[in-house]
Amino acid sequence: MSASWWLWPLVAICAADSFREQAERIMQDTPVIDGHNDLPWQMLSLFNNQLRDERANLTTLADTHTNIPKLEAGFVGGQFWSVYVPCDTQNKDAVKRTLEQMDVVHRMCQLYPETFLCVTSSAGIRQAFRERKVASLIGVEGGHSIDSSLGVLRALYHLGMRYLTLTHSCNTPWADNWLVDRGDDQAESQGLSLFGQHVVKEMNRLGVMIDLAHVSVATMKAALQLSKAPVIFSHSSAYSLCRHRRNVPDDVLQMVKDTGSLVMVNFYTEYVSCSARASLSQVADHLDYIKKVAGPGAVGLGGDYDGVSSLPVGLEDVSKYPDLIAELLRRNWTEAEVRGALADNLLRVFEAVEQASDHSKSPEEEPIPLDQLDGSCRTSYGYSEAPSLHRKPGALLAFLTPLLLSLCSL
Ligand SMILES: *[C@@H]1O[C@H](CO)[C@@H](O)[C@H](O)[C@H]1NC(C)=O
Ligand SMILES: *[C@@H]1O[C@H](CO)[C@@H](O)[C@H](O)[C@H]1NC(C)=O
Ligand SMILES: [Zn+2]
Repeated sequence: MSASWWLWPLVAICAADSFREQAERIMQDTPVIDGHNDLPWQMLSLFNNQLRDERANLTTLADTHTNIPKLEAGFVGGQFWSVYVPCDTQNKDAVKRTLEQMDVVHRMCQLYPETFLCVTSSAGIRQAFRERKVASLIGVEGGHSIDSSLGVLRALYHLGMRYLTLTHSCNTPWADNWLVDRGDDQAESQGLSLFGQHVVKEMNRLGVMIDLAHVSVATMKAALQLSKAPVIFSHSSAYSLCRHRRNVPDDVLQMVKDTGSLVMVNFYTEYVSCSARASLSQVADHLDYIKKVAGPGAVGLGGDYDGVSSLPVGLEDVSKYPDLIAELLRRNWTEAEVRGALADNLLRVFEAVEQASDHSKSPEEEPIPLDQLDGSCRTSYGYSEAPSLHRKPGALLAFLTPLLLSLCSL
């Protein structure tokens, strides 16, 4: 036995520390880009979106997973803020509420310019890195937010949407959600309907990333096959390690590999361990597994902070990312692999999506068939079934115009 056996525990402790130090050194110039954070939803539910309420101050906000000091401690350099509106807004005020949550993200950037830089491109993310700010981007969580309208899809793009999750936990008229795979919802589109295919093509044309978190396996496969650019899972883990239908099965991970796509691992305990308790090490198992099956280029982080009720021990809030990175280094991930999971893989996918976009190509115009729309709140202007299509609005305008002109001359 070696004479210096008594040194071993010390060596172990120093090694542990050095992994954490190495993680921090790497994260100085490659901070985390996280795929999914629900802070905007917290702003709505806690403060009805009144960001200047003292209690909403993001420097001192205490009861959330996310605040400004925690983001700094966690080396977060990029965040796709989730613009989430629940499924019960579908066919009601989904679009209005989506616009309001996008406005919240813009106001966060305005109110805390030292911390957040709202950007809409991979170049913008790199700029924020240089300025040591949190590149802030918008991911819209749920296809119901576009209310089956390509015009709304394009308008949201113009307002900064850079990914759209094709469904939340409900079907849209054009794509099926994961509850179908659990038998709790009926399959309606068998993946993507014809209109759903138009949505995916239009997202490709615009340069909006296709997010397959929350969708059914058939929808995952249909989108992976159809998309001209790589796709993301903004907050999903590995099905083989925890058999929850929100996670990504192996045959889909193979398609992720073949298409250069990305799985950003979710930290929610129910998706990590299929129970209310989980550990940091189990999250690292998911990262290891996806790396093994789909390659190191397919791994990312999408913590789902402020969108979930239970998180693993050791990953309680956004300040903890360096501990997870230290664990990957302990597991012999190379520096390049770690940088990939932190930011480089997302940047690669985002750049490929930008390169595949083509704003000189004609926009998709064909509307969804009227009979595929539900809900009594909707008018049907433009569809041939619509009553008095050509006359009424024109007549109203003819009536109003002299009135408006006379008001203008006042
Ligand atoms: C938040 O609180 C900090 C520290 O108390 C203060 O400096 C800052 O002005 C506040 N910001 C906003 C937007 O209220
Ligand atoms: C990491 O690599 C070292 C040195 O090659 C080896 O001894 C160790 O078992 C590896 N650890 C893991 C978790 O693979
Ligand atoms: Zn979600």
